[in-house]
Amino acid sequence: MAGQIPQRFIDDLLGRVDVVEVVGERVQLKKAGRNFSGLCPFHQEKSPSFTVSADKQFYHCFGCGAHGNALRFLMEYDKLPFPEAVEQLAGRLGLDVPREGADDPRAQQREKKRKEGVNLLEVAGSFYRERLKMQEGQSAQRYLQGRGLSPEVIATYGIGYAPGGWEALKQHLSAKGISEPVQVEYGLLIHREDTGRTYDRFRDRVMFPIRDLRGRTLGFGGRVMGDEQPKYLNSPETPVFHKGRELYGLYEARQASSKLEQLVIVEGYMDVVALAQYGIHNAVATLGTATTEDHLSRLFRLVSRVVFCFDGDRAGRQAASRALETALPQMIDGREARFLFLPEGDDPDSLVRREGSEAFQDRVTCAMPLSEFLFEQAAQGRDLNMVEGRERFASQVLEALNKVPDGMLKSLLLESLAKRSGLTQTQLQGLLDKRVAASAPKESAQWEPVDEPSLSLPVESAGHKPTSRSRRQGTAPRALSVVSRIVQVLLHEPRLVEVLPESLDWLPEESEEAPLCRDLIALLRAGRYRSPQVVLAHFQGSQEGQVLAELAQRELLIPKAARETELLGLVKHLVDKRRRRSPQEEYDALLALEREGQKLDKAQRQRLAELMMELIQHR
Ligand code: UTP
Ligand code: MN
Repeated sequence: MAGQIPQRFIDDLLGRVDVVEVVGERVQLKKAGRNFSGLCPFHQEKSPSFTVSADKQFYHCFGCGAHGNALRFLMEYDKLPFPEAVEQLAGRLGLDVPREGADDPRAQQREKKRKEGVNLLEVAGSFYRERLKMQEGQSAQRYLQGRGLSPEVIATYGIGYAPGGWEALKQHLSAKGISEPVQVEYGLLIHREDTGRTYDRFRDRVMFPIRDLRGRTLGFGGRVMGDEQPKYLNSPETPVFHKGRELYGLYEARQASSKLEQLVIVEGYMDVVALAQYGIHNAVATLGTATTEDHLSRLFRLVSRVVFCFDGDRAGRQAASRALETALPQMIDGREARFLFLPEGDDPDSLVRREGSEAFQDRVTCAMPLSEFLFEQAAQGRDLNMVEGRERFASQVLEALNKVPDGMLKSLLLESLAKRSGLTQTQLQGLLDKRVAASAPKESAQWEPVDEPSLSLPVESAGHKPTSRSRRQGTAPRALSVVSRIVQVLLHEPRLVEVLPESLDWLPEESEEAPLCRDLIALLRAGRYRSPQVVLAHFQGSQEGQVLAELAQRELLIPKAARETELLGLVKHLVDKRRRRSPQEEYDALLALEREGQKLDKAQRQRLAELMMELIQHR
């Protein structure tokens, strides 16, 4: 063990962190008078008996008696040993944890080496950055420019250039007294056993430093500028760098915003920096590996929502189902995971360049909720009109449910599965319990193979008959616009019209679906329409009716109880978007719509006139 942490430091730390913030990142809290309250994370409960006091910097549960300060909470909730909980809290404030005394020389040695290593990587990072600015970095400069990166983004991400030749970095580091074995240990130098030669690992590459949450460089990714292979080279596993743990761009995302709400997980370095170039600063990339549990639990400590981004092809779908697997055990209450499928042939880099950041943000907002993706996966390739198809469907969903921690999501999914499969919730719960009891350590591979012992489901009682959709195996569903998505939710759940804000000024008039959305809302507000069928009947025969029918066909796979939140989230997105937009931009967008040949309806024409007046007055 390293030396003791001084009590003074701990007191000081507790004086500076806010327990409400620490707890609030993990438990949904509501303000209740001077305190905050929520569902106790330490025992199962339906009504909140857990309170957090900002004044006293204390939490207490009247149900189970759990109580303590921010440190205690981290130890209990994140299951951290004391020193690590202190590290965590200190990390939030960017503080190093001091240690007293020196009881174990080996630990001290380790600590010293770690510092040495990190320091060495820092030196290497500045070396690369300097070289980028020098004559020999010209081609790399041009490369980065060609990829559309501004000097600001290059600086923010600390991008540099590793010169060609074999020993540029080695000589630089050696001149600073850093021994070759240490350079080898931290992955900068390669040592050939056969010849005994040593040479730089990264040569003639654009260099991306991978940093930890405090901005310390842990390793690098290097990209060639031509067609050589491999395209990207990463640092190997070293005492400080573990591929399955670190995420590229996380430090920069945290720097860009003090209150991150969601993070978007993309595949590559270039995706992260291209999104940043377009003002989207909350993307992170795994380093040439699938997303691990370790990645996710780190992300969920920082934000409550993660959005996975995948290519629209078959490989992307497969990656998505692996990600779903990894996410399931992490889905405690208050966390949310979504799946975004990109058009085939695109990655976030190419897409944001082509469509712009607003459109990309829209896609993120409309990303498929985990529950929807789960049901879609389970239904894939199965005919849910047949008993057998439904059995396998239910079986697969149950298998997944087994991995979800008890809580809201699990009950919602169970409720939804009951509707779809025709089994009662009690029956399903029974099956689930049996599976838990019976699940001897099973290989936790994918639940793709469906040769499961089938459940016998009563056919007749199947209340819900999904329309048999001809599913194009392995292709991503076409993404809907935010407005279409709102229409879709309203269509499936007409009563939700009540939760919409009175005024419709959030509705972007230049959206192709704006008239339809407005009409639908007006109709629902007029009352009487409480089921999708009746709504469809109203629009039957019109062009709007056709669009609606298509939307109705796309089954809404979000559990009923989650639809209100979904709808409000979509509207909020539009409200925020509108706030960011100038009248000129709105005016231009509307005009563009007209130019494309769409006939504007009355409300749109009116808005156009309003905007014109506004623009003239401010001229
Ligand atoms: P891609 O080949 O899709 O690269 O690999 P990209 O991010 O679109 O890069 P550009 O646009 O061509 O520059 C995606 C990710 O897979 C890992 C890297 O993390 C990369 O960002 N990868 C890829 C490697 O580690 N090694 C490789 O040789 C290729
Ligand atoms: Mn790319």
